[in-house]
Amino acid sequence: MNKRKKRLVILGSTGSIGQSTLDVIRRFRDRYGVVGLAAGRNSGLLARQVEEFQPEIVAVESEKQAGELRRNLGRSRVRILCGEAGYEEIASVATADMVVSAITGIAGLKPTLAALRKGKDLALANKESMVVAGDLIRKIAARTGSRIIPVDSEHSGVFQCLRGRDKKFIKKVYLTASGGPFLRVPLEELSTKTLAEALRHPRWKMGQKVTIDSATMMNKGLELVEARWLFNLRPDQLGVLVHPQSIVHALVEFLDGSVLAQLSQTDMRIPIQYALSYPERLESPLPSLDLAEVRSLEFFPVDEQRFPLFGLARKALAAGLSFPVVLNAANEVSVQAFLEEKISFGQIFEIVSYCLNHHQPRALAELDDILAVDRESRGQAQLYLKKMKGNIT
Ligand SMILES: NC(=O)c1ccc[n+]([C@@H]2O[C@H](COP(=O)([O-])OP(=O)(O)OC[C@H]3O[C@@H](n4cnc5c(N)ncnc54)[C@H](OP(=O)(O)O)[C@@H]3O)[C@@H](O)[C@H]2O)c1
Repeated sequence: MNKRKKRLVILGSTGSIGQSTLDVIRRFRDRYGVVGLAAGRNSGLLARQVEEFQPEIVAVESEKQAGELRRNLGRSRVRILCGEAGYEEIASVATADMVVSAITGIAGLKPTLAALRKGKDLALANKESMVVAGDLIRKIAARTGSRIIPVDSEHSGVFQCLRGRDKKFIKKVYLTASGGPFLRVPLEELSTKTLAEALRHPRWKMGQKVTIDSATMMNKGLELVEARWLFNLRPDQLGVLVHPQSIVHALVEFLDGSVLAQLSQTDMRIPIQYALSYPERLESPLPSLDLAEVRSLEFFPVDEQRFPLFGLARKALAAGLSFPVVLNAANEVSVQAFLEEKISFGQIFEIVSYCLNHHQPRALAELDDILAVDRESRGQAQLYLKKMKGNIT
């Protein structure tokens, strides 16, 4: 019997996760159809994706990109939306079964919420949404019956280890971290590492923001907060192990001392494919994982002197309330400034720690509360940035 295709909307289709998702879909065209694609500014690549996947609707950042896209597409009848409202509309389009949330940063939050409010299944890559609004996301998903399936390899690993297991038996969940490009550089050289060096990740090929987050290990801190909400665990049940080979993605320790781990090749198409096919498993074209060839798997604790942003994230997770929102906002502002070569690598920590230290924490019940803290923290980070520049000149 022919199964109906699963209809997908991909938010962030021109990014690293978006393109890998389309690569998975290419291999399983009989199973998946693309109803919507959303990108930011890369209207050239989006136009090629539209021609190949023939979605009914697309969304871009602004009228300017919409105009470019129209010119690139010629006589295509695809509906083109733009701006925040456009992203929310495409994420909640009636014809979609599942939304892949892979826009970077808090820009992904509103469309993610829109998808959940309509009861869509969510393949979640945009960790920043969970970091700033995990509680709200859980509540909306519980109300509408949306299933949230993680795309992040570590969370996919935990998700797979936990399937069919009662949460009350979990002792601790460990996410692994490759350690990024600066795992072994002398400590005194760290603060002056250049953009090009920070973008040279030894294991994963990803978008720029998440690559810098991996170099500072803020990424792993954000992932801890993401895991806290995805799996409804206490902060003290979460840990990180540095594992440079990036073969083991997550480990779950149970009360009786048994530890389950999830292993796979270092390729995002594996967790993406699982998120799309869940609860089924489809054959992967990638070669089998050959542990005899890998030979050794190392694990060690995170050195918070080397990765102080990870330390800040761990503290924000433990403190809860509005701290994770501040952490994320200050980090987004400072990583962007580092990407634009306005600050040094070491100054990312300086800005994030300044914003956290000057924050008056509060409870966040509604989206508006979250967005208000996000705005304030961005403003504070921008001001601090200006002050820094004033000191330099
Ligand atoms: N890459 C990975 O291996 C990986 C692994 C796990 C989790 N994640 C998470 O997945 C998310 C995406 O990561 P990525 O590596 O795929 O990032 P990326 O390569 O930088 O792609 C980001 C995507 O989001 C779009 N975008 C960026 N800012 C936007 C905005 N303000 N409004 C609308 N669209 C916007 C970009 O559009 P344009 O390019 O068209 O401007 C692009 O399609 C992040 O949250 C990241 O932490 C990534």
